[in-house]
Amino acid sequence: MDFENILVDQQDGLATITINRPKKLNALNRNTIAELHNAFNQLNQDSSIKVIIITGSGEKAFVAGADISEFADFSVEEGGKLAANGQETLFDYVENLSTPVIAAVNGFALGGGLELAMSCHFRIASDNARMGLPEVSLGVIPGYGGTQRLPQLVGKGKAMEMIMTAGMISADEAKNSGLVNYVVAQEELIPLAQKLAGKIARNSSVAISSAIKAVNDNFKDGVNGYSTEIREFGNCFGTEDFKEGTTAFLEKRKPKFPGF
Ligand code: COA
Repeated sequence: MDFENILVDQQDGLATITINRPKKLNALNRNTIAELHNAFNQLNQDSSIKVIIITGSGEKAFVAGADISEFADFSVEEGGKLAANGQETLFDYVENLSTPVIAAVNGFALGGGLELAMSCHFRIASDNARMGLPEVSLGVIPGYGGTQRLPQLVGKGKAMEMIMTAGMISADEAKNSGLVNYVVAQEELIPLAQKLAGKIARNSSVAISSAIKAVNDNFKDGVNGYSTEIREFGNCFGTEDFKEGTTAFLEKRKPKFPGF
């Protein structure tokens, strides 16, 4: 896959997407968002890819936000469209991807950068990472799902504080708040992401995609997550992965899941 602003590496069922605009602290411009959509879409269609890791290039930033230079002179209509298009093509898209996505937050994750990390299925961080939603300091609010996903992850009160103060929190504070699962030294970040990806890849990718749907439906208005769980649980019984998983257990051997 050839892109201008991102790098995509694929090895042994694991894909790593690196946002590669280090001079702009990997800020998300229109082109980068489109490239990310295309990369996620292609990787999700490749049944050999079991897990996707997303990170930022350089040692300073995961993503320092949406590219402010692109929207500084937008009208009300253009602002609304920016948020709607971004949510549809990237942020909601990643959250609902059937392939698991781990955000390896290697530095600043601000505004759209934190929103991107929060769209991923879970997050790990390096100890130099700093996270926040600084939008109100620019006279705008988070528009890529931040007002919705941050309260889901850290609770309403902490989210309100972070959004209203526009401040940054440290990696350790992010871990204590439930925003990231692990904090490690920067050089250990990608190895940890790969280790976690390896654990995920040993399991049934078909069952994992069902689990993603069921968990996500807990947070969708008008959708009953328990009903989704019942439906997806039932569907599992019709899959080759289920036959292989249960047979392997009874035969006391490791499963070899056929997957999708
Ligand atoms: N959009 C566009 N460009 C950005 C950017 C963003 N969100 N964040 C950083 N950059 C650019 C800077 O303009 C600068 O470009 P230049 O060298 O051409 O002037 C370059 O990235 C390096 O950033 P700089 O501010 O010089 O680095 P720093 O170490 O002094 O500060 C930050 C780092 C992250 C604190 C600071 O860049 C920042 O506050 N960025 C904006 C964060 C934000 O508000 N994000 C939400 C957007 S809605």
